[in-house]
Amino acid sequence: MKATATANSNIALVKYWGKRNEELILPYNSSISMTLDKLYTTTTVEFSKKYSKDELTIDAEKISGEELERVEKQLNLIRRAAKVSEKAKIASASNFPKAAGLASSASAFAALTLAATKALDLHLPKKELSIIARQGSGSACRSIYGGFVEWQKGTLENGEDSYARQVAPQNHWPELCMIVNVLTPKQKKIKSRAGMAQTIATSPLYKAWLETVESDLEKVRSGILEKKLSLLGQTAEMNALKMHSTMITTEPHIIYWEPETIVLMKEVMQLREEATECYFTIDGGPQVKVLCLERDAKKIEKRFSEMKEVQKTFLCKAGGDAKLIDRELF
Ligand code: PMV
Repeated sequence: MKATATANSNIALVKYWGKRNEELILPYNSSISMTLDKLYTTTTVEFSKKYSKDELTIDAEKISGEELERVEKQLNLIRRAAKVSEKAKIASASNFPKAAGLASSASAFAALTLAATKALDLHLPKKELSIIARQGSGSACRSIYGGFVEWQKGTLENGEDSYARQVAPQNHWPELCMIVNVLTPKQKKIKSRAGMAQTIATSPLYKAWLETVESDLEKVRSGILEKKLSLLGQTAEMNALKMHSTMITTEPHIIYWEPETIVLMKEVMQLREEATECYFTIDGGPQVKVLCLERDAKKIEKRFSEMKEVQKTFLCKAGGDAKLIDRELF
């Protein structure tokens, strides 16, 4: 009744922003992401009668409160499916800062779902894993797969048609890189969940977001399949700015950017002026992720890593599927 899994984080190129069902985590729009090879979470889960309650550690720190409740809720879904009631010990470790806009909840809930279902001997197909992972954190449904992944929003009330599928495998476009710049490892103040709800309730721009997202999805799908960086990058950059515009116009405003974020955005624009093709994207936090081709990646990474605003860089390529591993955390 013990298993360990590892899952890579993913960064959306067309963002998921807004839930039509908060409880089941069903989105208003589909989204497309790239799974990243260098950012990952490893999770060990053990169910046993020896535990009187669920115990969670993240990066060796004991966790209680809201974070523990989210994990217990996810385990309850899996316990119900396996018809067991044993409590669990869960240890999770990531190689990057959590809750800072680097999709730590995506890799964490994907790894947790895979480890917990295996520990209870449920051998589920990826589609089912994606549906369960989605209910922990929306973006986690995409981290079940490697490569380039689309989360189909679905239309059913029960969420059975809201899951991820692979658009292209990990080895489809080996030249494509994403440089993740960690500017400040501070945890964000407003969780995406609250940010999304506030946006839907108060932003006059949310309607425009929904009206243009289908066309962004089409362009990003083609950009990936035809390996066209300019189409992919321009659309992804604009999509991120549109998402942030909806939040900036909520009441009260949600501004995830820090001054360093803007400096980095301008640096990407400057690189383009110098004929180095690259594009940025930003999630629910200050970090700036940059898409580029391998031929320019080292040069761009060096440029960022020399900036005083940047604390750390990860030069990523498309990563693999979430998988079971033998190396246990306890
Ligand atoms: O899955 P959550 O609740 O962490 O929300 C993710 C939201 C964004 O990162 C901003 C966009 C996305 O599609 O990953």
